Amino acid sequence: MPNKIFVPPPQALDRNLALEVVRVTEASALAAARWMGRGDEKAADEAATTAMREALNSLAMAGIIVNGQAEDSTQPLHTGETVGTDKGPQVDIALTAIEGVTVCAKASHNALSVVAATDSGSFLHVPHNVYMEKIAVGGNLPAGIIDLDLPPEENLARVAEAKGIAISDLVVCMLDRPRHSELLGRIYDAGARVVLIDDGDVSGAIATGLIETGIDMYMGSGGAAEGVLAAAGLKCLGGQMQCRLMLRSEDERQRARRAGIDELTRKWDVDDMVRGDVMFAATGITDGHILKGIRHHPGGATSHSIVMRSMTGTIRHLTARHDFIKHAKLHSS
Ligand code: FBP
Repeated sequence: MPNKIFVPPPQALDRNLALEVVRVTEASALAAARWMGRGDEKAADEAATTAMREALNSLAMAGIIVNGQAEDSTQPLHTGETVGTDKGPQVDIALTAIEGVTVCAKASHNALSVVAATDSGSFLHVPHNVYMEKIAVGGNLPAGIIDLDLPPEENLARVAEAKGIAISDLVVCMLDRPRHSELLGRIYDAGARVVLIDDGDVSGAIATGLIETGIDMYMGSGGAAEGVLAAAGLKCLGGQMQCRLMLRSEDERQRARRAGIDELTRKWDVDDMVRGDVMFAATGITDGHILKGIRHHPGGATSHSIVMRSMTGTIRHLTARHDFIKHAKLHSS
């Protein structure tokens, strides 16, 4: 007997939206890529942000940005901004037009455009420009295997044991920062290898959920909004992540409280940061661990994206060829 064909059930969060959302990250990545390797972070960011905003506003949804690019309401794609046509599902959005603006300007590794969308009230709202401690692993590992309160050696040992490999076979990804020097030394001493990245810890954390990257764990601190975006991606991949805010001043603590966070030292797991089902789309700007970057060719460019939905666990890799000349004609007519 042939297997029954799987028919996905109707969903609250319209599944077609996921494929529309990837057009948004394609648009911003294409715009950013025009500025890739030109040493101008501001111009790259403005171009990507303008393109992302325009594309988001064409989507049939009543969207609200929960973790945006700024807290200042005069800035585009700020937290609290409403996006979409207002005709369609109510959706909360977390985004970044360029994750890794410096690497985009330097044409270095791991710059992405990212949008995650979920039902209203599902994302953890975090203040802008604060750090989180982060630890992440991919899928198919026992729940609760990683814990920020454990020594790094213990987390490494647990993951190695669960994977049935030696610690020396583990590959950990981490941002290359002076603040990580002690952690890095301890991981080296424990025998694991470390992939040090210049920027882009959304990509670094999500890489743990994609076997082809060869990255087993993510460790270290980075942006809090990026932590929530990574949690959205890992939720779709069945991975685990634990984060805790690192609030360095009274101003940061107050901003966290204003964002609605009462337990400032709480450890947040994936389901605390992204409570409902989520869709996640990212397009590579420069080559990285999870995606290839934009490739320009005469009259157009090719983009590489990943689109995922936690509800179904579907992971789509999308390569799209864009014809700039036809596109421009369409928009001028
Ligand atoms: P931006 O594109 O906002 O610069 O973020 C890049 C990034 O590397 C993030 O991926 C990461 O979470 C954060 O910066 C780390 O912050 P810092 O550079 O201060 O260590």
